[in-house]
Amino acid sequence: MLCMLCNVVLPLLACFVAVKIFEHYWRKRLISSDSLADRYVFITGCDTGFGNRLVRRLDKTTKLRLFAGCLTDKGRADLDKCTSERVQVLPLNVTDHESIETCFKEVTARLPSNKGLWGLVNNAGIIGFSGPLDWVDAKYFEKVIRVNLLGVIDVTMTFLPLVYTGKGRIVNIASSYGRFPFPVAGYTESKFGVEAFSDSLRFHLRSIRSPCGVSILEPGFFRTNLNDPLKLITEINEIFQNMRPEMKEFYKTVDEDYINRLVKDNNDFMDIVSTPNIDLVVDAYEHALTAKWPKKRYSIHWDAKLLWIPMSYMPSFMQDFIITMLCNRKV
Ligand SMILES: *[C@@H]1O[C@H](CO)[C@@H](O)[C@H](O)[C@H]1NC(C)=O
Repeated sequence: MLCMLCNVVLPLLACFVAVKIFEHYWRKRLISSDSLADRYVFITGCDTGFGNRLVRRLDKTTKLRLFAGCLTDKGRADLDKCTSERVQVLPLNVTDHESIETCFKEVTARLPSNKGLWGLVNNAGIIGFSGPLDWVDAKYFEKVIRVNLLGVIDVTMTFLPLVYTGKGRIVNIASSYGRFPFPVAGYTESKFGVEAFSDSLRFHLRSIRSPCGVSILEPGFFRTNLNDPLKLITEINEIFQNMRPEMKEFYKTVDEDYINRLVKDNNDFMDIVSTPNIDLVVDAYEHALTAKWPKKRYSIHWDAKLLWIPMSYMPSFMQDFIITMLCNRKV
């Protein structure tokens, strides 16, 4: 037994550690800043959050030229004000094909001739409903999936020719929810879809020997203004009021107390596992766009690396057990 430990397990462990250390330094090698100076990156969802922070970061730390898609007039005006002339802000609604097509024509017109995109960053996204899964209807799922999944697919398929010309990279934001299906209506489904779409696109690019690549970001739980507890209470109440009568009948014992407890549990859980440091996500985006050897997957924050990804490999009965421990919401 001891022999086996010395002869097999320890050497394997040593190899694994050596490979990881080598990888760590290998991944640190960046493309030279001058070489990035004439490359163009298109980013969606730059009004607020990760996308907004990413544009301002890249504008400051790199010489990349950026096209930033914003949904709202206010988002466009604000971003335009605080960025250099290397950033061009454009209107974009990822749920509207016309808008994507118009944006594509605009980007094509503004790119120097024979120049494509070095990066396409599918960042735009919305959050789902983290209250009880069966309180919402299919329309709710559809709303989230339209932005988070169909938006990514539509933007990618439209801009792909420019990425091919630029021998560029596609960077898609998924989530730990795309690896471990926490019941968050629409969000989980959309993120599993983004994982599937990104992987299958990468396989396709390999099969045609394309120099283009795909990276997937998998952030764990982040505390942003999207998951503010007050907003959650309002949303849960609203959804509860508008629930189908047949379902309301099943949940007839639910009262204000129950809802407050739901939000409190959710909040306590977020306090333990989440981080407000959205720069971690921006770091991953920046690496995917500026490293010589970007990763195919970026697990971001310890909860993703140590909890959700390992849990995703567990047998179903163990996953069920853990979920039962974590969420106890008997009606
Ligand atoms: C985005 O496009 C969808 C579909 O056309 C539309 O329903 C929605 O109102 C648009 N959003 C904004 C902010 O323009």
